[in-house]
Amino acid sequence: MVVTILVVSAVKPQDFRTCAQTSFCRRNRAYADKATSGSFISPYNVIKDTINIEDGIISGELINTENRVLFIFEIHILINNSVRIRINEKNPLKPRYDRVKYWSLIQEPSNTLEYTENSINGKDMFTSLSFGIDRNHKVIIYHTPFHIELLINDVPIITFNNRGFFNFEHLRKKDDPVNKPELVIQPDINAEEAEIQTEEEKEEKQEEGLWEETFNGKIDSKPNGPESIGLDISFPGFGHVYGIPEHTTTLSLKETRGGDGGYNDPYRLYNLDVFEYDLDSPTALYGSIPFMLAHRKGASAAILWLNAAETWIDIVKSKDDKSFLGFGKATPSTHTHWFSESGIIDVFAFLGPTTSDIFEQYGSLTGFTALPQSFAIGYHQCRWNYLNQRDVAEVDAGFDENDIPYDVIWLDIEHTDGKKYFTWDKTKFSDPEKMQKDIGRKGRKMVTIVDPHVKRDDNYYIYKEAKDLDILIKDKDGKAFDGWCWPGSSVYPDWTNPKAQDWFVKKFAFDQYEGSTEYLFIWNDMNEPAVFSGPEITAPKDLIHYEGWEHRNLHNLFGMAFHAATSQGLINRTNPNHRPFVLSRSFFVGSQRFGPIWTGDNFAKWDHLAASSPMLLTIGISGIPFSGADVGGFFGNPEPELLVRWYQTGAFQPFFRGHAHIDTKRREPWLFGEPYTSYIRDAIRQRYILLPFWYTLFQEASTNGMPIIRPMFVVFPDNEETFAMEDQYFVGNSLLVKPITSQGQTSTEVYFAGKDIYYDYYTFKKVQGSGKVRVDVLMNKIPVFLRGGSIIPRRQRFRRSSLAMYSDPFTLIVALNKKGEATGTLYLDDGKSYEYQKGHYIYRKFNFTSGKFTSTSLNNDQVQNDENNYIRSNKFIKIERIIILGIDKLPKKIIGYYNDLIDDKKELEFKISKDIVIIRNPKLLISNDWTIEFVN
Ligand code: GLC
Repeated sequence: MVVTILVVSAVKPQDFRTCAQTSFCRRNRAYADKATSGSFISPYNVIKDTINIEDGIISGELINTENRVLFIFEIHILINNSVRIRINEKNPLKPRYDRVKYWSLIQEPSNTLEYTENSINGKDMFTSLSFGIDRNHKVIIYHTPFHIELLINDVPIITFNNRGFFNFEHLRKKDDPVNKPELVIQPDINAEEAEIQTEEEKEEKQEEGLWEETFNGKIDSKPNGPESIGLDISFPGFGHVYGIPEHTTTLSLKETRGGDGGYNDPYRLYNLDVFEYDLDSPTALYGSIPFMLAHRKGASAAILWLNAAETWIDIVKSKDDKSFLGFGKATPSTHTHWFSESGIIDVFAFLGPTTSDIFEQYGSLTGFTALPQSFAIGYHQCRWNYLNQRDVAEVDAGFDENDIPYDVIWLDIEHTDGKKYFTWDKTKFSDPEKMQKDIGRKGRKMVTIVDPHVKRDDNYYIYKEAKDLDILIKDKDGKAFDGWCWPGSSVYPDWTNPKAQDWFVKKFAFDQYEGSTEYLFIWNDMNEPAVFSGPEITAPKDLIHYEGWEHRNLHNLFGMAFHAATSQGLINRTNPNHRPFVLSRSFFVGSQRFGPIWTGDNFAKWDHLAASSPMLLTIGISGIPFSGADVGGFFGNPEPELLVRWYQTGAFQPFFRGHAHIDTKRREPWLFGEPYTSYIRDAIRQRYILLPFWYTLFQEASTNGMPIIRPMFVVFPDNEETFAMEDQYFVGNSLLVKPITSQGQTSTEVYFAGKDIYYDYYTFKKVQGSGKVRVDVLMNKIPVFLRGGSIIPRRQRFRRSSLAMYSDPFTLIVALNKKGEATGTLYLDDGKSYEYQKGHYIYRKFNFTSGKFTSTSLNNDQVQNDENNYIRSNKFIKIERIIILGIDKLPKKIIGYYNDLIDDKKELEFKISKDIVIIRNPKLLISNDWTIEFVN
């Protein structure tokens, strides 16, 4: 008998818990409600004589005066304008989970010695330090009740526990009567119900879920009882906060406690496989980054709540802080409330003051994005599934026949033998090595999927090895956990176990992964982890991991641990090492070090196309600049116009991949006929033309954390009109992009901020007007503008893949600003190895000022050109064209020379058309320092 089990079913909201259905969320929200009621005073006090200040750390003890439980706090003043606050129980019944730092931080951050203790009269009431080189930063710890303020120039920037929501549920024994958590009113019932609830009923309800919790018939055994932690964090004077992905919400985050346009539930961070997710929602998705950035005119600040357990965040805003800040006018403030189910409090505050400072501060702590191989930023063609080797060859040929460049073709789960990853369905893929080599010969690559679940099959080597090594996650009774995923009954190796990591890394060696070649890269999916049979389609929280830790503590970092092992596997498989490429669906703080992520199973609908921009912008400012959304939409069949618009947008998003569900119609770029094929071809070509610009941005992101696509407020931090803008954005600081996200649009409004000149990217025409300007929209492109002041490197020749463009000459577009100036950079290396870390790269700075255009080296590693392996093999790469826009004094003559051959000046040929000057073939090499002079 054949039993078909339908594992995919439309997910309904009832598959996922709301706050009211989550006992620690209920308790913390109720605690907050109690704290905001009139007479409440936080019971946590600093025990004064325990305070100690040493080596940049203020430490001491706290007491909860209601139950006499003691806590240890540490406030670290870190280098880089950051502060870390750690709070744990002094004598917990057993250790609380404090291992997130090992996964998310690249190293223990260093404390600064640049501080002074403030001896003030109020010594008994508070402890205070000034820090920073000019000591204009201050931390004040108030003793009774305990709360902390961080100030710059005496203006509070971030405060902790000022609203008294700090709530640390200490570990307790089940029957210990003294140690019950706070009894508080339920937030999830309306006033009427509240009245009929007797004290006894209230108590009963409150007790619910403390030692066991049930959702949709699935029991969480909760052997440790209640152990949540909560804290309020406010940003006085800041009207906008951003970050905490992954949600389908606005870039500037909405409030969460009801009210006008606000959500009713907090933002939830709990990595989940949410099938057919809704838009405009605070519910959890595949990834979690508990990082929030606050911004106002003149200042930015951010926090990282380093906790990998289920976390919820409430946001409310107020307009009543004028006296507090002394701004002279009512300034909005944002008040947030963070609570996690378990673990300890480990919070970082980044004091900026600019957004770029914050990206640097956050990145130096958690790691900058890994510089990818250059093919990774080309176009990727995926679907669930390319059927067989012939299908792959035909799709590959389709790109060539239609003159469309692409870099990578992907194989989804159906390529395997029975969903056993690392195997091939030999009836469909009889010669995978040949298939990859055929692709590789054209400079292209292939990706196969490797998911984290392992089919329970004694004939499957991966299963046998994992079982023998005893690295499987155990259920609460100590048996290997059995969950249901694509292959049916599966086990889940514990990626947090170092033994599992070591083992898995080796599985990618060419002699281990049969049929793999150097052209093959990897896709990690379902790593939240997805467990079709589990509570909320994921792993039960009472599963047991390495060293006995419950899954509850580390759920949100689990997927990243898998991503980390896979990525290391790809690094190790070659000698010398090559950079890995691994796409992951689940992510956490630090995932940027392992590879890109994508936004999972979206829909072929216009509103999903629109949602991709705020989602990717949010993920980008939260430390993961390399991300994308399925182009075309995963579910459903896009109409040709939507597909075209999606390609045009995707070409200006960092990770650019077309993907579709198995039940959708085929939609390779040429299947819709003309004019659509041409539109899609043009969109993809635009991506390839700009690859040098993108790659340079990736290199910069990998050293300073700047997002690759940037929200308007990041580029115009003092322009309040941009603070909530999310339907247009910048690539770097130079290209302004306005995706077209509705059907039949013939014009759109673009906001041109500042006093800059903008040029139409395609026609080079100057934009007339500033602020909001209505521009015409055609079907063959989306509006893109060059910001005056920028220089963009391009490669204009059409080839079939990025590798085929490797030695192509460059065109430089110089878009002058009002002062007749522009700057830009270009980074180039072999696009594959780690040689760049030894200085083998080209990094140019272009500068146009006072009629003089120069190229100078930014290679800080001082590797001379003749010792630079990259330059040695690429020294003949030329500049073939320079286009200067917005020139007001037209030149009579243009002279070019290498800076070290100043006597060898050549007159260059050029053409003028209105205020555009085009220098053709200036006969200059990209790797050398040169100057071009305009003679009037
Ligand atoms: C998940 C992924 C999707 C993939 C499918 C089959 O739904 O999000 O991209 O195609 O699984 O592997």
